[in-house]
Amino acid sequence: MKIGRLNHVGVACPNVEAAAKVYAELYGASEATPAKDFAHLGVRVVFVSLPNMQIELIEPLGEASPIHKFLEKNPAGGQHHMCFEVADIIAARDAMIARGARVLGTGEPYIGAHGVPVIFVHPKDTGGVLVELMQAPGEGDHGDPA
Ligand code: CO
Repeated sequence: MKIGRLNHVGVACPNVEAAAKVYAELYGASEATPAKDFAHLGVRVVFVSLPNMQIELIEPLGEASPIHKFLEKNPAGGQHHMCFEVADIIAARDAMIARGARVLGTGEPYIGAHGVPVIFVHPKDTGGVLVELMQAPGEGDHGDPA
């Protein structure tokens, strides 16, 4: 198993619309989706599209949100994870476990905000960086998050 292209960088923020405005006004990155709530994931998300990848702006929905604790420690927000595409999420999960990495949660891939199965690898296994692995979207799907 080898990771593929960088799909997105996840950035936690207290308010996704305010953060999207910063990327638009400061960096000219104005191609952004409307904010979308993923109640079952506990997050509100805006995707900012760049030529080669996306910035995934993530705001917590409620105190049970996986982003809630991160924002308590980093109230202004901050870089949260990097997401790489893999050809086969099950093979990737099995390879991570075989290589001694810790897959978060139950270890079962689940459908993330992009509409494809994902897993997360514990930051302690990658020098403090939380890594998301994502089943590579189909050809026509890239840059068109569900
Ligand atoms: Co992500």
